[in-house]
Amino acid sequence: MSLRKYFRKKILPLDLLTQVLSPYCFEKALDVGAGTGMMLEHLYEHGIIRQGVGVEVASSYFRTINDALEILSSQDLQAQQPGKTFDLIVFNDVLHHVKDKPDFIQQYISQYLKPGGLVFIKDMDNAHPVYTWANRCHDLVFAGEWIHEIDPNGVKGILPRFGLLAEGKARVLWYDHYYLLFQCPEAVSQESLAHITQTTGAQPANPPGEPLLQV
Ligand SMILES: C[S@@+](CC[C@H](N)C(=O)[O-])C[C@H]1O[C@@H](n2cnc3c(N)ncnc32)[C@H](O)[C@@H]1O
Repeated sequence: MSLRKYFRKKILPLDLLTQVLSPYCFEKALDVGAGTGMMLEHLYEHGIIRQGVGVEVASSYFRTINDALEILSSQDLQAQQPGKTFDLIVFNDVLHHVKDKPDFIQQYISQYLKPGGLVFIKDMDNAHPVYTWANRCHDLVFAGEWIHEIDPNGVKGILPRFGLLAEGKARVLWYDHYYLLFQCPEAVSQESLAHITQTTGAQPANPPGEPLLQV
């Protein structure tokens, strides 16, 4: 196991995240900002996904993990998947690296999420100043980047028409995490997805529906 993967496993509440997704079995998942592919591998090993594609900006992460899992650039994903959609899209600790978060989320969801599919977002919380600064310093040292978090209400405001199936928080060492699990409305059109807004603080308008592929 690489050093990076070893440390990621130490600071992520992986067991909790697995528990949230464990009632489901997804045919195909997309992990945006997949890094080493640790999350994809974990979900695959726990039988939560049958196939997975990771998308990355860093070419050092592009690889075929096994017959069911691979990590690609967004250009290769587009070339390989014309018209194909996923029943789960994961954004695990990528949003705080991205400037235009509504546009980033919308780009993947509108292109790749099946109507009725699920979106799992895990990111760093900024509710507690000490832990927020500790994590910012971590990223400055290890990624050379000053990050910009989005809080859970901000994410909910980006997906106002999606049903919120689960949400929670967990602190591991000095890292404050939150997760949100959304379901895309079944009768969603590309046009309505284009209305994902930047409004913050909004609660999802529609109640949670029956989760897709629940086992
Ligand atoms: C903190 S790491 C998380 C990696 C992985 N999701 C995990 O949990 O181990 C953030 C990752 O997002 C990737 N990333 C940053 N901006 C991105 C973008 N615009 N598109 C895709 N990946 C991006 C980085 O290269 C990095 O690997």
